[in-house]
Amino acid sequence: MKKAWGGRFEKTTEAWIEEFGASILFDQTLVEEDIQGSIAHVTMLGACGILPMEDVKTIKGGLEKLSLKAKEGALSFKIEQEDIHLNIEKMLIDDIGEVGGKLHTGRSRNDQVATDMHVYMRKEVIEVIHLLRVCQQALLHQAEEHVETILPGYTHLQRAQPISFAHHLLAYFWMFDRDIRRLQDSLKRINVSPLGCGALAGTTFPIDRHYTAELLGFDGIYANSLDGVSDRDFIIEFLSNASMMMMHLSRFCEELILWSSQEFQFVEIDDAYATGSSMMPQKKNPDMAELIRGKTGRVYGNLMSLLTVMKGLPLAYNKDLQEDKEGMFDTVTTLKGCLTIMTGMIETLQINKEKMYKATTQDFSNATELADYLAEKGIPFREAHEIVGKLVLLCLQQGVYLQDLPMSVYKETSVYFEEDIYKILDVMTVVSRRNSTGGTGFAQVQEALRQAKKQIDE
Ligand code: ARG
Repeated sequence: MKKAWGGRFEKTTEAWIEEFGASILFDQTLVEEDIQGSIAHVTMLGACGILPMEDVKTIKGGLEKLSLKAKEGALSFKIEQEDIHLNIEKMLIDDIGEVGGKLHTGRSRNDQVATDMHVYMRKEVIEVIHLLRVCQQALLHQAEEHVETILPGYTHLQRAQPISFAHHLLAYFWMFDRDIRRLQDSLKRINVSPLGCGALAGTTFPIDRHYTAELLGFDGIYANSLDGVSDRDFIIEFLSNASMMMMHLSRFCEELILWSSQEFQFVEIDDAYATGSSMMPQKKNPDMAELIRGKTGRVYGNLMSLLTVMKGLPLAYNKDLQEDKEGMFDTVTTLKGCLTIMTGMIETLQINKEKMYKATTQDFSNATELADYLAEKGIPFREAHEIVGKLVLLCLQQGVYLQDLPMSVYKETSVYFEEDIYKILDVMTVVSRRNSTGGTGFAQVQEALRQAKKQIDE
């Protein structure tokens, strides 16, 4: 098969080597970006008087036809044509004739592929931001229903202090919000055009890079042609942002998995997101949550993989860069899938309010209240901590909880204890009194919900 670059070669490439070097099996994902990039390029070639308008019209017509066919899935890509760029060029020439060969004037596959990747990344990042917003909506819906639902709050996975379930959900809302802001910020670096950087050094043709950038919706152009063709920071940045997002999703999934276990029974994952066992008839496994947690590993892997690909590359383009694509495509697919599943899982989650509440009445997560109580009456907090610690120990020895101890025991321990401690020890009081800014007190959580809604409407 004749190669677009075959002139200086005396031997043809063997099929198995050709296959090893080809990227068409995966970079065909970029077909639409590639054609649009070419349309912008040829439009500019015409406007700058580099190609006659007549040729530009023919080439554009051919590209538009290919774009329609691509949308219908009617293009058949060939490994012999190596990658998406050469496949499209070959199809164009087959269709409109030799004039199609003028499209590549003043351009290299190096700035072409970089351009495709920037346009693709922009589209996908915008889509991911949207999916994150939808996921935040689902969190908000659940949170609105559960301001006064009590959940044991943990540190070290040991019962710590009871909290509002909505407060817990909103913690994830704000993680996703930071994810969105990071993605929005990354668009500044994604939406920059490398088109016109040529193979590495620019071109002798009087091209207009600002014009192609404008046609493709970029906010600006790369200042340096070497940097423009060999920069993959924007993909690494995306993979890094994606890793952080997956880490957030994974932490939430881990909690859903724990909470839906027999040991906790705090939530029930909807049947749609669970599966059974082929052997054990009683089983309901939180498969989707486990898979999201599991898929976090491959996204981290994709980040490490590209960082490693890049670390020893001399300027400018090297074929190693072709290895940027599969990990990026895989990350986009994985991330979008995980976000969509997560949203559905949150929306349909059944909350076992009674179980959660009951859990908080059968532990010592109200112990801090007693220490604070004494501290408010002037006892140094350290001393108060010690006194209550002793009471907890006493309870543990007797197999009771703080609220079960009679007043006489409290009085013996400290004269400052009054009847009102029983009210203070009540779970609802415990939560509602944590009214410091950003705390779990019900009034604070209501305020946090208002802020979160405002954030979404922005
Ligand atoms: N398929 C190549 C890639 O993805 C396109 C650029 C090829 N450029 C070259 N000089 N061989 O990186």
